[in-house]
Amino acid sequence: MKLSAFILLSIISGLASAAGSTSSEIPDTLDKRVKPCIICHGDADRTGRDAYYPRIAGKPAGYLYNQLRNFRDGRRYYQPMAILLENMSDEYMLEIAHYFASLQYFYSGPVSHALSPVETRSVETLIYSGDPARDIPACSACHGEKLMGVQPYIPGLLGLPHAYLAAQFGSWRNGGVMRGQTPDCMSEIAGKLTQEEVNALAMWLPVQPVSGESAGADALAPELAQRCRTVFSREDVTR
Ligand code: HEC
Ligand code: HEC
Repeated sequence: MKLSAFILLSIISGLASAAGSTSSEIPDTLDKRVKPCIICHGDADRTGRDAYYPRIAGKPAGYLYNQLRNFRDGRRYYQPMAILLENMSDEYMLEIAHYFASLQYFYSGPVSHALSPVETRSVETLIYSGDPARDIPACSACHGEKLMGVQPYIPGLLGLPHAYLAAQFGSWRNGGVMRGQTPDCMSEIAGKLTQEEVNALAMWLPVQPVSGESAGADALAPELAQRCRTVFSREDVTR
């Protein structure tokens, strides 16, 4: 989030007109619609160690669609996106979600983290085995063995910058304005983690290479889908 006020303003005004909210000319092609998105989400350099923008290319369409509606409808807060999506219909959002879900951008994130070997082992145990004593399933049980997500609603965890991850967990744990208002399985799970675990996760994940695709829906055990039912019950995304 190191954009200067000037750049941010010009993006917002560009977005507002691209979204049709200040002019009557609504862009009619998908390419034009997604142009403003790429300013922040299209450039792999922006998802480095110090950046804040999450990778969206290649994430499951249902997840992207849910997030777009969350931003538009105020369940998730980030003002430039809320302005951009203000007047966008569900149909258009679904199209945009499918568009980004079908993309594969080249991605190269940071290559090393500052965790000790002991810290690395314990964060990997949490990710791949969970902690049954605290009723924390493995992250990989929901986010896929490769952590690249599960169709259609569960996002991959790789290719996300440290600052972005830290902010999402902060929001879930504190019921924050950004993402915590609608409790779901993630706010429940994030609430069981210690701050040390969150810090370690936010350091370990951005260093893993992004590769492969999200897993098919049958990769998710029914009891885990049930645990996330508020996410899954938001309208069907198939068409
Ligand atoms: C000014 C920069 C900017 C622009 C332009 C922008 N975004 Fe975003 N977007 C962000 C940031 C920052 C976040 C993370 C916000 C947060 O903290 O939750 C985000 C989050 C998202 C997410 C959720 C990602 C996830 O993994 O949960 C989606 C989906 C998304 N944006 C899609 C779009 C689309 C589609 C467009 C164009 C219509 C767009 N964005 C335009 C900055 C931008
Ligand atoms: C019971 C299933 C489940 C488990 C276990 C789980 N997650 Fe999630 N996670 C989800 C769902 C569902 C979402 C999407 C929530 C939404 O739509 O906003 C999500 C979203 C996320 C996101 C947001 C990604 C983005 O692009 O913004 C992160 C980060 C995350 N989870 C990390 C983790 C980590 C780390 C673990 C292990 C400690 C974990 N999750 C365990 C179901 C799970």
